[in-house]
Amino acid sequence: MLTNMADWRRTHSCGVLTDKNIDEEVLLMGWVQRRRDHGGVIFIDLRDREGITQIVLNESAPVARETGESVRNEYVIAVKGKVAARPDGMVNLNIKTGMIDVIVSEIKILNNALTPPFMIDEHTDAAEDVRLKYRYLDLRRPQLQKNIMMRNNITKSIREYMWANGFIDIETPFLGKSTPEGARDYLVPSRVNAGKFYALPQSPQQFKQLLMVGGFERYFQIVKCFRDEDLRADRQPEFTQLDIEMSFIDRNDIIDMIEGLIAKLFKDILDKDVQRPFPTIMYKDAMELYGHDAPDTRFGLHLKTINNMVENCQFKVFSDTVKNGGIVKAVNAKGAGKAFSRKVLDELGEYVVSLGAKGLAYIKINDDGIQSPLVKNLGEELTYEIIKVMEGQSGDIIFFGAGDENLVNLTMSKLRLKLGNLLGLINPKQYNLVWVLEFPLLEWSPEDKRYAAVHHPFTAPMDEDIANIDSNPKSVRAKAYDLVLNGSEIGGGSIRIHRSDIQQKMFERLGLGEEEIKEKFGYFVDALKYGTPPHGGIAFGIDRIASIFAGTESIRDVIAFPKTQKATDLMSGAPDYVEPKQLKELYIKSDISANKPV
Ligand code: AMO
Ligand code: AMP
Repeated sequence: MLTNMADWRRTHSCGVLTDKNIDEEVLLMGWVQRRRDHGGVIFIDLRDREGITQIVLNESAPVARETGESVRNEYVIAVKGKVAARPDGMVNLNIKTGMIDVIVSEIKILNNALTPPFMIDEHTDAAEDVRLKYRYLDLRRPQLQKNIMMRNNITKSIREYMWANGFIDIETPFLGKSTPEGARDYLVPSRVNAGKFYALPQSPQQFKQLLMVGGFERYFQIVKCFRDEDLRADRQPEFTQLDIEMSFIDRNDIIDMIEGLIAKLFKDILDKDVQRPFPTIMYKDAMELYGHDAPDTRFGLHLKTINNMVENCQFKVFSDTVKNGGIVKAVNAKGAGKAFSRKVLDELGEYVVSLGAKGLAYIKINDDGIQSPLVKNLGEELTYEIIKVMEGQSGDIIFFGAGDENLVNLTMSKLRLKLGNLLGLINPKQYNLVWVLEFPLLEWSPEDKRYAAVHHPFTAPMDEDIANIDSNPKSVRAKAYDLVLNGSEIGGGSIRIHRSDIQQKMFERLGLGEEEIKEKFGYFVDALKYGTPPHGGIAFGIDRIASIFAGTESIRDVIAFPKTQKATDLMSGAPDYVEPKQLKELYIKSDISANKPV
């Protein structure tokens, strides 16, 4: 096998040669994608990150051809040869190099390879756990190469914009005190401080605010955040934020600055022009129309609360719900009558029940009348009133959800997405951005029996609502904003509380005692007393943006080394047991690790 490479220098990548290069002597290196032996002539698809070039080993170089016979998939090879036009009928216009072959004069095997557990190909049907176990092979696949390189272009474009606008890239610590962002912390035990723990940051929230106190005015960082929460397709235990903070600004300055950034990203990455200003929707309208604070506005199918229509009706499911403080919401699935079989209707019912709903009542409007188990309960008059309000026409199906407000919004918003998909209303090539504004500042936590911050406790209330913070906490709106793209929350932030008295008040409102405030946030409240400028900021989920831009189903496909839904790394086996000695040094006793299987 080759060791001395001194006179073997690559001249081109495997993705660039065209008919313009015919007759040039070239030297390529890469991986063997595929080898075909056509009795005397060997064809090899040679792959590197830029693409694939077909190389040909024939009788013009018998030694090279013989070596070529031992080459297998994923061997790493170097070839010298001459670019030649492909014979008629062999041209492949689908790839850039499809006009040419390289006729090999010399070949060197740089390394051999075991047979990979799956084909390194554009599309694979290998199970995801196998792909994750051999992630370094999965990463060779063109699709993942494309995604990861697109991600690089995203962060490059972001940095250009931030620097051009006077933002300073500042690193903040990973080993710190916990910042409450609503998830559980990942803890790191301290060896030199017995019994004490650092928390990995759920976000650099407090540090970036302290950088404003520290006078930097415009900060950004592309930074890892750590959250121990239930994972989903768009949630990883460690993920990357574009974190931003600005001083001497109000909400509209931030919104304007961010729209410039997002417009540049769309142009640089997707070559798309987005219209500014972006549309906005108030939180309360988003909840009413979509049942969700991250609405997918690419299609209609708006929800409608019909409490006032059904509160006194004969159908107990509806009227009792209203009496018990719940809500009844309806959605008109336009044209579903013809599109949905009985089986689909049953499946939709099962779907919402699996999400916790009690059932899925509906009214189907046929050409020859109404078909619904509800008519006998609602009565004809009310049925027709509801149909009118929901703009029902022949061929439509109106669905209903009744119950606790949060549950109905959850189930009806998911039902709406499902209906949008089933009815083909969602254009995957369309990108709808929307700012969600005027979030509530506080939400009641039934578990903790106290109010919790909807965003985080440093978010400022709207000036006109401050007075209600004790008398009517639920009604207080926050100076917070989320940016939503196609139903996914890609970013969120707020104007901060910059006065220590209001911050103190907020902590009290959240039910923190004086001692607790001092212990957890004392330094922070103190800092606010030393001349803090008005400030605010936002953070974006870079994994989510990359995933939407790349059109992947999960953010795992835009992360080089992602974790599973169970927060494990199938390749390295992390998390793993550690040596008892290591635990002892950290003053940790663990019965489980003592039982480490041997
Ligand atoms: P927030 O908690 O909304 O705000 O997070 C900002 C953005 O980060 C992304 N995100 C995630 N992406 C992948 N996996 C996760 N587990 C995950 N959690 C969040 C989302 C989200 O919009 N400090 C505040 C920002 C601020 O107020 O400036 C914060 O972290 O896209
Ligand atoms: P029932 O009277 O329980 O047979 O329910 C009549 C219809 O109402 C059925 O189609 C149920 O699926 C539906 N239904 C029952 N409870 C609810 C609810 N909480 N929300 C929406 N539909 C419901």
